[in-house]
Amino acid sequence: MIYYQWSCLKVTFMGITKLHTRSVGYLMSFKKLLRDITGNLLVRKWKSIEKEDIVSIEDSMLPEVLRIQAEGFKDGCPEKLIRYSKNSKNIFYVMERRNKIVGYCVYYLKPSLSLKGFEKKSVVSSIATIRSFRGKGFAEKLLRSSIEEMKVNGISSVLLYVNVNNLPAIQLYKKIGFRKIKQVKNICGQKERCYEMELRLA
Ligand SMILES: CC(C)(COP(=O)(O)OP(=O)(O)OC[C@H]1O[C@@H](n2cnc3c(N)ncnc32)[C@H](O)[C@@H]1OP(=O)(O)O)[C@@H](O)C(=O)NCCC(=O)NCCS
Repeated sequence: MIYYQWSCLKVTFMGITKLHTRSVGYLMSFKKLLRDITGNLLVRKWKSIEKEDIVSIEDSMLPEVLRIQAEGFKDGCPEKLIRYSKNSKNIFYVMERRNKIVGYCVYYLKPSLSLKGFEKKSVVSSIATIRSFRGKGFAEKLLRSSIEEMKVNGISSVLLYVNVNNLPAIQLYKKIGFRKIKQVKNICGQKERCYEMELRLA
């Protein structure tokens, strides 16, 4: 009898746990969907400023940008860049030098509600320069120019995630003024540790 009751309790508990996990999953997906919809609306109203050698991505540039991504990241996600190149052209920056694409930097917008009220944040989703063109200040220029545009568009803070071992990138972000917020796992890749870094603009 006691065994039967215990089994029933166990089954009920497992049921509740499953239900809870599923609800949390739905809630997270809903939150992400809401964020994507608001982000897309904000991107449509985006104000662009004059930027030397930097343009918004065009479809014809995508193959070269994907090649640069593959060269820079061992497990980059081309699907993401393809999606951003369709939905977020305004905040997908490509740098050209003498008609050659030398690097790119792409963001997504992250509207958030906090005690401070409604805040528009952005996240650097990916940035890379061609290997043979590194160390010439191109990534720095891409970031500085795009961040100027972020300010004009009322972005309060820029976030990014960088692998703890990626010293060139960490140095670059520190030089621009980003500071480490915390260490997180599984964002830059499975089981990989990375820093969340932030640059406050307002
Ligand atoms: C990280 C990356 C984008 C830097 O691009 P870059 O065009 O070479 O960078 P810049 O020439 O603009 O460098 C600007 C600053 O970054 C830092 N930096 C860049 N490369 C560095 C290196 N190899 N070692 C140390 N610091 C470095 C320096 O502070 C440099 O300023 P300085 O020249 O005055 O010292 C490039 O190495 C890259 O594409 N890597 C592969 C993709 C990647 O890791 N992206 C970041 C993911 S979070």
